[in-house]
Formats: sequence, structure tokens, C-alpha cells
Amino acid sequence: MPSLEQALRAAYRNREGLLIQLHDQATDCYRLFHGSQEGAPGLTVDRYGPQLLVQSFHQTLERDALLALHEQVCASLGGHLSLVYNDRSQGNSRIDRNDPVYRADATALEDQVGREWGINYRVRARHSGQDPLLFLDLRNVRGWVKTNSAGKSVLNLFAYTCGVGLCAAAGGAREVCNLDFAESNLAVGRENGALNPDLAPMQFVQSDYFPAIRQLAGLPVPQRRGRQLPEYPRLAPKQFDLVLLDPPAWSKSAFGTVDLLRDYQSLLKPALLATADGGVLICCNNLAKVHLEDWREQVLRCATKAGRPVRHWQALSPAADFPSADGQPPLKVLVLQL
Ligand SMILES: C[S@@+](CC[C@H](N)C(=O)[O-])C[C@H]1O[C@@H](n2cnc3c(N)ncnc32)[C@H](O)[C@@H]1O
Repeated sequence: MPSLEQALRAAYRNREGLLIQLHDQATDCYRLFHGSQEGAPGLTVDRYGPQLLVQSFHQTLERDALLALHEQVCASLGGHLSLVYNDRSQGNSRIDRNDPVYRADATALEDQVGREWGINYRVRARHSGQDPLLFLDLRNVRGWVKTNSAGKSVLNLFAYTCGVGLCAAAGGAREVCNLDFAESNLAVGRENGALNPDLAPMQFVQSDYFPAIRQLAGLPVPQRRGRQLPEYPRLAPKQFDLVLLDPPAWSKSAFGTVDLLRDYQSLLKPALLATADGGVLICCNNLAKVHLEDWREQVLRCATKAGRPVRHWQALSPAADFPSADGQPPLKVLVLQL
């Protein structure tokens, strides 16, 4: 087993070419060390603009090892990054000792701006969620959307902080609608819009997925027997030219359950119906235990059954900062041409 210092050095060497490309594309948010594949399971090191975010998921990184890692990464990149360390190894806890190394200094904890594909994003290394407001493994998907949105109407489902929506706006979409049930996530999406004042304004719909997508697809919103549903925004049926479906692995609400393992179809079918004929649906599945080939068969079968057969499909993989030895990265993405 190589030392952490050796593993970090090899990881940096493997990324040198990619980092040059990313910097040329005005991107300063990327993964520098993907421990599960690069020799230290449970450890990740990410750059988010001026911040270096180190996270441990299995065991705490000791102070000296953390400081050495910080120094090594800054030396490789040739510049200082503010260190934030989130230890999630014990019941998702963060170390908050009096030691400033673990506490992180005030500037490191400030809201910062990171860049990707020339777009500004709010980044926050420590907050209640696990991700500092931008999922780095989705970068290639955002890039694809930016290149393929000109003149299109775009629907961004499970929008989170609206990164895909911003890329659509930057790519010249004529209309962008971001949908998510968490107002706090959409609020960051609005902040991201304000950080990119040259982009056309986007729409934000705060709604549970199920009633929203069923209305857009022209399907009835089923009532649950004996139980009244919470209020939800009323939407007219509408199809979009480009739809992005990137759900979490699991989530339950009064309207239904998002369950990527057992029931991808109930998410996919209404999203297919809300995609225009000749349009594109990009669908994602981030469950590591699901294999691309099995999931793809399931997706293609579901599309045929829904009367929206796929004319052409393409798989998109995360970039080389998310290496996977077996060629099966947890995040699987299919671009479906309907
Ligand atoms: C994995 S993130 C999606 C990542 C996002 N597509 C991106 O570009 O970064 C999951 C999002 O789904 C939202 N969500 C989870 N269950 C939902 C539901 N039933 N209806 C609407 N949004 C939901 C969460 O609030 C969260 O923002």
C-alpha cells in the first residue's frame, strides 16, 4: 500500500493533462484525489475555487497528515488554497475541536465563488449538506448541456443549485426551468444566477417532483385514498426540448418515493412524456451497485413501453478526476434522443 504522500503524488501526475484543460476552460473546481480508486478509501480532496476541501468518510485524518496533505497539494498546484477539513467518519460528524487546523479559519469558511466552464458558482465548504453546492462528477454533463442548448427550452429536474440550468442559459437556451422541492437549494440557484449577470434569467419552481412532472406530462396527479395531499403548484401540460433527470438515490415524500434501485421507471416515464418529440432527455443514476448495461436496457424498455422509443443514445462518463478502475463509475448518464 503506497503512503498517502505517494498516492497523492500519483493522483496529481494522472491529472496534470486534465488540469491544464480545465484551467484553459475557466474551471477551478475539480477532484484532486478520489481515495476509493487511488489508494486511500474514504478520503476525498476537492478544489472549489480558492478552497481545498478534504473529507474523510471512514477514519479521521490526523493533524500532521492533514497539514502535510495541504502543503503537498498547494505545492503541486503552485498556489495557496484555504483548507477546510470535514471529518464525516463518525456518524457524519465534523471535527470541531479548538485546534484551528480542524476548525478552519474564518476566511476558509466564508462563502466563495468557484468557476466551471466559465460560469461562476457559489461554493461553501462547510454547511449542512455533504456537497459544497456543486457536484463535481456532473461537470461533463453540464458541459454537454452548455454545448447543446442553443434556442432550446430546458427543464432541469431535481435541480439542486441549478448548475445544469445555468449551463443551459450560458449555452443560449431560450427558456430554462429549474424544479426542486427544497427552497434552500433553489435559493442558491438564484444566487448563482446573480453571480452570472450576463445570463438570461431562469425560472424556479419549488415543487415535489411527482405532481409537477405528472402535470407537465399531462397525466393526472393520483389522490391517495383517505389521505389529503399537501398543496402543490399547479402547472399546465408542457413539453421541453431538453430535459435533465438527475434524482437522488432515495427520497420519500407525501407524493411518492424516489427509489433508483427498485423503481426508476416511475421517475422516467413522466419525464419522457414531458420531452418534446425530437427532443433530448438526459437521465442519470448515481447508485454504484447498478450497472450501466442493466440500467440502460431498463431505460430503453421503459421508453418503448411509454410510446417514446429512443432513436439514439449516448453514455456520458465523469472526467478523469473521477477515475474508476473497472470502468463502472457510480454516476451513469444516458443522453436519449427521442
Ligand atoms: C442529487 S441532487 C441533484 C443534483 C443536481 N441535478 C445537480 O445538477 O447538481 C438531489 C436533489 O433532489 C431534490 N429532491 C429530492 N427529492 C425530491 C422530490 N421528491 N421532489 C423534488 N426534488 C427532490 C433535493 O432537494 C436535491 O436538490
